[in-house]
Amino acid sequence: MSGGARRVVATAPGKVNLSLRVGAPDERGYHALATVFQALDLTETVQAHAAESREISLEIDSRVSGAVPVDASNLAVRAAELLRAEHGVTAGAALRITKRVPVAGGMAGGSADAAAALVALDRLWGLDLPAERLRELGARLGADVPFALLGGTALGTGTGARLVPLAAPAPLTWVLLAPGGELSTPAVFEQFDALAAQLDLALDLQPPPDEAQISALAAGDLAAIGASLANGLEAAALRLRPELAAPLRALRGAGALGALVSGSGPTLAALVRDREHAAEVIAASGAEADRCTVAVGPVPGARVIEAD
Ligand code: C5P
Repeated sequence: MSGGARRVVATAPGKVNLSLRVGAPDERGYHALATVFQALDLTETVQAHAAESREISLEIDSRVSGAVPVDASNLAVRAAELLRAEHGVTAGAALRITKRVPVAGGMAGGSADAAAALVALDRLWGLDLPAERLRELGARLGADVPFALLGGTALGTGTGARLVPLAAPAPLTWVLLAPGGELSTPAVFEQFDALAAQLDLALDLQPPPDEAQISALAAGDLAAIGASLANGLEAAALRLRPELAAPLRALRGAGALGALVSGSGPTLAALVRDREHAAEVIAASGAEADRCTVAVGPVPGARVIEAD
């Protein structure tokens, strides 16, 4: 254990899934996935202050709409409790989250909060844990937390927590359209199961990765990357939010290289050539400009940006 700090600021990225293949659920209801993640420069920030009491307190400063729990169910608080329980920490902490990733939007904002809290508290409490240990703890908090810790572009298999870094051209530019409202990830997976049962689909125990997409990323072939964007949860998300179909079509028709529902939605992500092209696609799609954000990836995973 090295020395701790009084105040630590950490950031962690939101993500898009460039491909998301969904397989069979296990006994806990978790589905086997093969997904290509990319970390975006749309980030969450967690400030951790040393506390006098043993309490873990939480405040949220949200730049986006949507309600986030501030009680013990919050993923950042659960990250703090897990780290304390596993590493014999008795100190408390005061956490403050600044949210920029849409709430329940399919971009893993909550997972980014947990990842940023883990790296911030690791430093605050002077634990100095190896990255691999933090990823292992992260996997217990949620399937997307290990990727928020790792960042970059990566293939996720298993529940999405088993990661292999991938080569990708940089930067990739994305138009993110937050259509408003939220989609519950468990509800989207349930809808996926219902659709699979209805269509009598045989689901893979472990779906194969999209090798063509991985090759397109390695080759830096933007058109092929755009054409390969695909989300196995899209039909389920569109069943729950049919009104997403029109803006998705509009982004595709407006000259985006490709567009898809991000993760479990409802955020829509369109790949474009650069920022200028982003502005053209937003205008041509007729999307409300204040619902659109331009983001680039890949960016690093959760990291400490200030400590004193
Ligand atoms: O792991 P996380 O808490 O982010 O997952 C939220 C929910 O999404 C899970 O409770 C489960 O219903 C669903 N899920 C799944 N298969 C995965 C990841 C998540 O069914 N691989």
